[in-house]
Amino acid sequence: MSAVADLVTVSDDGPVRIVRMNRPEKKNALTVPMYAAIADAIEGAGADPALRCIVIAGVPGAFCAGNDLQDFLAASRDAEGLAPPLLRFLVTLAHAETPLVAAVSGLAVGIGTTMLLHCDHVVASSEARFSTPFVHLGLVPEAASSLLAPRRMGHVRAFALLAMGRPLDAAGAVAAGIVNTVVAPAEVDAEAMKAAREIAALPVEALAATRRLLRGSSDAAVARIEQEADLFGARLASTEARSAFETFLARKK
Ligand code: COA
Repeated sequence: MSAVADLVTVSDDGPVRIVRMNRPEKKNALTVPMYAAIADAIEGAGADPALRCIVIAGVPGAFCAGNDLQDFLAASRDAEGLAPPLLRFLVTLAHAETPLVAAVSGLAVGIGTTMLLHCDHVVASSEARFSTPFVHLGLVPEAASSLLAPRRMGHVRAFALLAMGRPLDAAGAVAAGIVNTVVAPAEVDAEAMKAAREIAALPVEALAATRRLLRGSSDAAVARIEQEADLFGARLASTEARSAFETFLARKK
């Protein structure tokens, strides 16, 4: 098992902080320590006025395969509910004052898609695929996606995504209002950095005030994150969920 500093790398390029999920052998499935590291990086940027934009990035072909299902299986068996660092990561996303840009280099599953609803600008690979198979896994949506997705794309499209688990390709994600720009896979990081530098160069106070106006209070999102977390914790311990995790982990390739 690699150290968390390798699994989530954090680097600053002038005013831009780059937070990269870096677990390619597991398609960037997120573990509890990885959530803590990403939350630390976002909070740390918020405390440093020299950092004016954050880019959340993945590895070639994989932005994020969602929560590690081995971790979910363990939480299911122990009836632990959502791990506190995961909850903290979600609340940190909702409260973040530093603009967030996402560089979606490939597949984005579960939290890999729902975290994008908290981002201010999203660049995606033409090969990217977005899916939220929560219900198929016996779970419910998280990250305030049950609130933010219907607002963003309307009920029927949010239902297809979040309840039916129908995936979106890059063009579908643009149409749903999740993605700004689609580029060739090799250009995703550069395009995201271009947007981040553009955002970082804006007058800081006017940008902060505008962003607050556009996003509104984070109270409703945080309340929904907590409401979803209660349900999610109960669902994690369900037979439906446990058997879905076991089926995935036992699958033959
Ligand atoms: N949790 C744990 N391990 C995961 C994972 C996850 N969410 N997603 C991928 N992996 C692992 C696979 O088990 C595999 O590990 P192995 O090589 O040790 O067997 C490795 O990552 C590569 O995944 P693989 O399935 O071979 O890649 P793929 O390109 O064929 O498919 C996915 C990629 C993401 C479509 C597929 O792995 C998948 O459906 N993962 C589960 C996604 C999910 O349900 N996330 C939770 C949402 S709430």
